[in-house]
Amino acid sequence: MKILIASNNTHKIKEFYEIFSELNLNIEICTPSELNIDINVDETGSTFEYNAELKARAFYNECKLPVIADDTGLEVEALNGLPGVYSSRYAGNDCIDSNNRKKLIAELQKSNAKDWSAQFKTVICYLDGQITKFYYGICKGKITDKEKGNNGFGYDSIFIPDKYKKTFAELSEIEKNNISHRGNAIRYFANDFKNNIYKMRLGFLASGTGSNMEAILNNIVNNNLIAEAVILITNNSDSKATKIAKSHGLEVRHISSAQFNNDNERDEAIANALINSRVDLIILAGYMKKVGSPILKQFPNRILNIHPALLPKYGGHNYFGMNVHKAVIENNEKESGCTIHIVNDDYDKGKIIAQRKVKVLPKDSPETLQKRILKEEHILYSDTINKIINGEIKLD
Ligand code: GRF
Repeated sequence: MKILIASNNTHKIKEFYEIFSELNLNIEICTPSELNIDINVDETGSTFEYNAELKARAFYNECKLPVIADDTGLEVEALNGLPGVYSSRYAGNDCIDSNNRKKLIAELQKSNAKDWSAQFKTVICYLDGQITKFYYGICKGKITDKEKGNNGFGYDSIFIPDKYKKTFAELSEIEKNNISHRGNAIRYFANDFKNNIYKMRLGFLASGTGSNMEAILNNIVNNNLIAEAVILITNNSDSKATKIAKSHGLEVRHISSAQFNNDNERDEAIANALINSRVDLIILAGYMKKVGSPILKQFPNRILNIHPALLPKYGGHNYFGMNVHKAVIENNEKESGCTIHIVNDDYDKGKIIAQRKVKVLPKDSPETLQKRILKEEHILYSDTINKIINGEIKLD
């Protein structure tokens, strides 16, 4: 899942990146310039919350992706909380950081205050079109009139955090992020995001019965799987899978070869539909067509297939449907089962990520074996998706 950092401030973006990279979240952070978004939002509000939301909303309207924006300021006790929301333009609209620092020290000296206690405050606004939430981070300290250090930005070189003898600008990036207002706010956000907001978006490709898809959808409904099913793409509009998807309120797109000049064009249409639905993980659930390079390129290591045998045995072009089970019985195998693998450009050859075994009984026909294996498939698919969401199974 992609989240945009709604800021053009390269210092802030760097901090966001650094803090996020330590959190092991299943999300991809992107910046306005990466998405060719070039807007500047006037911070006209008188609160951090208002300004953060203003920015988040403006950037969200440009990209329709989940967005986080922050507003941060320095609140100095002796100056009744100033510069606060005006921190970045305390010395005037076109001022640079050093003008702001000079003005702050001058104001404090003018005030005759002995106590130069201050706090940095960050408010993060997360917005995704459905949810708008705020997260807070504070770092308390003192202002010094002796500028020190070359790291950081803004007021960092005149702010000494509590329990430290150095200014923010003298601390390493890691040290600062561990205690900083923005670091704290991002960590609150990350926790809430992991536990309460994030739902992996699943897109299905299916041609037939769709019982694997149905099992996954039922697990989502019953809260056994915390994910969001967003789309079914099928090459067969009469399929049972289509009916199941519709009854679960999923968007269904019928995309088949007959509508295109060639398979490549068909797969480009499929890839676009999946991208537009912001799919994180593609689930092949009895999809009878080969997944071509336009889809593979857009979703590297993000496409799963389930196969009704213990791969690498009984996989490949000719092994589908009942053929698999017939071959297993003909070869007097003692066990079979099902396999989930990552899809690559070779039939059933991608990395195996999960398997369940099923005993082959002496009296088994291909049909009875298929029935027992299908039951295990229904367990294995949701179980594996859960493990991917929890980070127990890594796809990269
Ligand atoms: C399953 O046996 C699966 O292993 C294979 O296709 C079949 C799909 O069954 N890839 P269903 O459509 O999910 O019922």
